[in-house]
Amino acid sequence: MSTLVKAPLAALSAVVLGLSLAACGREEADLSNGKAEFVQKCGSCHVLERAGTQGQTGPDLDSAFRAALRSGMDRDTVQGVVRDQIANVRRGSTMPEDLVTGEDARDVAAYVAYATDRAGEDQGALAQAGLEGATSGRQIFIAAGCGSCHVLSKAGTNGTVGPSLDDLPQAAGEREPGMSPEEYVEQSLLDPDAYVVQGYQPGVMPSFEGRLDERQVRALVEYLLGR
Ligand code: HEC
Ligand code: HEC
Repeated sequence: MSTLVKAPLAALSAVVLGLSLAACGREEADLSNGKAEFVQKCGSCHVLERAGTQGQTGPDLDSAFRAALRSGMDRDTVQGVVRDQIANVRRGSTMPEDLVTGEDARDVAAYVAYATDRAGEDQGALAQAGLEGATSGRQIFIAAGCGSCHVLSKAGTNGTVGPSLDDLPQAAGEREPGMSPEEYVEQSLLDPDAYVVQGYQPGVMPSFEGRLDERQVRALVEYLLGR
């Protein structure tokens, strides 16, 4: 008799537990954290256009889910696939297992599911989220949102608010007498109004003083000058 009573209770509590776990899993993911973690820990091996990453060791994560998405797989399912890949890597793979765990893993999976094969660029806070931890000049350029105002062909950006940066390697040495190209570009980043390019207005380009650390400034300057 008592087992008969217990069984449904156990089943019920399993259902309740299952429900609360499911509810927990649906808790709003933090896409900004997911993007930042992705850039830092996954981007060196994977292309993901919106995150500005270009790693070639693993599959391109924009094309990885394209066929499935087009044939009707929803992004929640993609999120589950990514979450599973993070925790259960094929034996012998070069992809390290559990690079991110817990909420970070949830956030990374949610960001990849959101960003994969999605046209356009991230907006608002999400646009900046890859900046922390970005080390390559290109990654910093994308994550800092420079491309929304500047053409830079090698980064694939086409903003027209500021001057094209395609000719910067030549122009930088001629802007301010006595300033090396490196000094000029660094000044452009940290104190944009110190020299205003002819035909443009001061006060439009934000200063990146304090938003980029010293190493990031150096990497960005070298990238822009093609060094
Ligand atoms: C050292 C390189 C490396 C890193 C870092 C890495 N991966 Fe991978 N990843 C791979 C390789 C290689 C594969 C190919 C499949 C395999 O080996 O299992 C892969 C496969 C995948 C797949 C499956 C793609 C498909 O076509 O099915 C996903 C999703 C994925 N990685 C996501 C991530 C995420 C998210 C991170 C960061 C937490 C990450 N990877 C970090 C190398 C890497
Ligand atoms: C909101 C728009 C905006 C953003 C974002 C922006 N810039 Fe600018 N940038 C401008 C404008 C406008 C000018 C021209 C006025 C001036 O010289 O300050 C300019 C000028 C420059 C110059 C000088 C170009 C030359 O030909 O002398 C450089 C270099 C530059 N930006 C780099 C960057 C980088 C790198 C980033 C990202 C870290 C960035 N900008 C972000 C608008 C922007």
